[in-house]
Amino acid sequence: MDVDAVAAMVRLISLKDLTTAAHTWRVVLYTRAMAEEFGLPPAEVERLGIAAALHDIGKLDVPDEILQKPGKLTDDEFRTMQLHTVRGHERLLLSGETDQVTLELVRHHHERWDGLGYPDRLKGEAITRAPRIFAVIDSFDAMTSLRPYRQDVGPEAAERAMAELHAGSGTRYWPQAVELFDRLYRSGHVDWILEYYNDRAEHPQFCARAVSTLRRGG
Ligand SMILES: [Fe+2]
Repeated sequence: MDVDAVAAMVRLISLKDLTTAAHTWRVVLYTRAMAEEFGLPPAEVERLGIAAALHDIGKLDVPDEILQKPGKLTDDEFRTMQLHTVRGHERLLLSGETDQVTLELVRHHHERWDGLGYPDRLKGEAITRAPRIFAVIDSFDAMTSLRPYRQDVGPEAAERAMAELHAGSGTRYWPQAVELFDRLYRSGHVDWILEYYNDRAEHPQFCARAVSTLRRGG
């Protein structure tokens, strides 16, 4: 999928789940920074960034009343929500996507290192590397973005999120991914991304900058 198509998808997903596109662009930029920290070549960095942008594409197939429900989901609703991984994977296959990294990241970004995730309950190294790394990033972003029920933001929230990631290392998360993300966070290279935590604002310049990063491929 080219960058314009990816950007259009990101807009569609954000309209559908009533969030802003900033969440997606933050995780794209964290993913690219992680891939660079890992020493991957530019083409791989670019490929992972695009896979990250599409991670929740399956939410387009979740009914609005579940996706946009303000309160807690029932067990049945939660099961439907979990299907966004499978639906996203199917949607990409139907659209002719052949990139394995994208397909695997979309399907497996909610798997857990200990095998208790979804949709396939894969365990450990049965989960490929990209979704193992992405799970850490997605959680960090969820824990550091401004939500109605949360007071702390910025550095305070980030420290709390890092502690949570370490607590989940070896159970929820691949330990190496936690270590790597910790190193990246401590390096200060992602501080500027963290500043766009407010999901109630649109951050058009930030989103445009993220899109152009994807376009430049570096
Ligand atoms: Fe997801």
